[in-house]
Amino acid sequence: MSRRFPPADPLRGSATAAPDKSISHRVALLGAMAEDPVTVRNYLQADDTHATLAAIRALGAGVEERDGELVIRGVGLHAVHGVTGDRLDVGNSGTLMRVLPGWLAGQSGGVWTLDGDASIRRRPVDRVVEPLRRMGGVVHTPDGRHPPLTVHGNPLHGVEHRLEVASAQVKTCLLLAGLLASGTTSVTEPFPSRDHTERLLARSGAPLERTGTTARLATVDELEVRGGEVTVPGDPSSAAFLVAAACVVPRSRVVVRDVALNWTRTGFFRIAERMGAVVLADLEPPGTMADEEPAGDLDVAAAPLEATVVEPEEVPLAIDELPLVALLGAFAEGETVVRGAAELRLKESDRISAVVDGLRGLGAEIEATPDGFVVHGGGGLVGGRLDAGGDHRMAMLGAVAGLGSERGVEVEGMGAASVSYPSFEADLMALARA
Ligand code: S3P
Repeated sequence: MSRRFPPADPLRGSATAAPDKSISHRVALLGAMAEDPVTVRNYLQADDTHATLAAIRALGAGVEERDGELVIRGVGLHAVHGVTGDRLDVGNSGTLMRVLPGWLAGQSGGVWTLDGDASIRRRPVDRVVEPLRRMGGVVHTPDGRHPPLTVHGNPLHGVEHRLEVASAQVKTCLLLAGLLASGTTSVTEPFPSRDHTERLLARSGAPLERTGTTARLATVDELEVRGGEVTVPGDPSSAAFLVAAACVVPRSRVVVRDVALNWTRTGFFRIAERMGAVVLADLEPPGTMADEEPAGDLDVAAAPLEATVVEPEEVPLAIDELPLVALLGAFAEGETVVRGAAELRLKESDRISAVVDGLRGLGAEIEATPDGFVVHGGGGLVGGRLDAGGDHRMAMLGAVAGLGSERGVEVEGMGAASVSYPSFEADLMALARA
């Protein structure tokens, strides 16, 4: 599906971004592990999070939709249904592929094979296979690195894990395995990554301690989700595309409502502000260790942009929004540099190559480096054609680029946006026409 995004007049009005994808995945999985029913408001209805609901149903959980809310009836921590040969389709979801094996690895007696689309088969899973094996997990892939991933449930024991690269997916996988393992499991990251799992576990009564970048968990007998109710806030990674559009279309002023403002997710808003955009929001202060997920409105106004340097410790806090830093960089005076982001090469596409080739094709002066990119900005974008290559965030990047460009952008493969933000095009164009 190809779509043209013409240069826009100043964006105006307000929008509500899609519900948070990371929190939706986690709420569904923890709901499936709970003994009591969990009611979820504002669950993300998108391809990735539908794959998670299909997976927990296949594992025996009940999922009902009632008055726009989901009711999840879990199987409890230890009672997953599984027989030899069960296959679970994660679709395009790297999060489901890396996180779910943590729960399954400790379910003695079951055997599951997780597989997904062509993009998933290119994404490494050795980052969860190796630490799970250290806990006693029996996990295999045909080449030791890529899906399909087969998990044979087995008794696990706690291990102190030290990750070389900050990854919320790996951390979550190991903490879920830790719930079932004997003894204590800890995960230490080089820099903080998104902490939704820790917040949800703490609210579910799990014996979780956090110090610095270490999360430590003792075994639990059962998991409750306190109050049985969870409301998923808006996704800052989805909101970021609307915010970026307001940054690159001069004289724009846009409000995005009810966005998760957890500091481990708002790195891009801090970077945009540093580049000169006016971002008014009650962002959670960096370093906060909370159990709740704060949410609020983002009020964004366009202003002349200046280049910035994004350092490695900022990368996990803005990982999915780094393509948008490149876009802002094209409109900013000076040289915008992102470093320490080699992980981008392992996302739904190689996002360093995809961003560099995609934006260069629209007129940006941008170069790839092994772990990021350098943008020589100030000239904005001429426009042209961008192929999303099946990557939802590349499709949305192309659309936003079109609105800020001189001649518009034709995005090939716009349908990929349904992976995380099905109403993206409608929400963006409503701001452009308001
Ligand atoms: C996610 C973590 C990040 C992010 C992904 C979602 C999560 O991946 O890029 O879109 O929900 O835990 P990594 O853990 O690989 O950095």
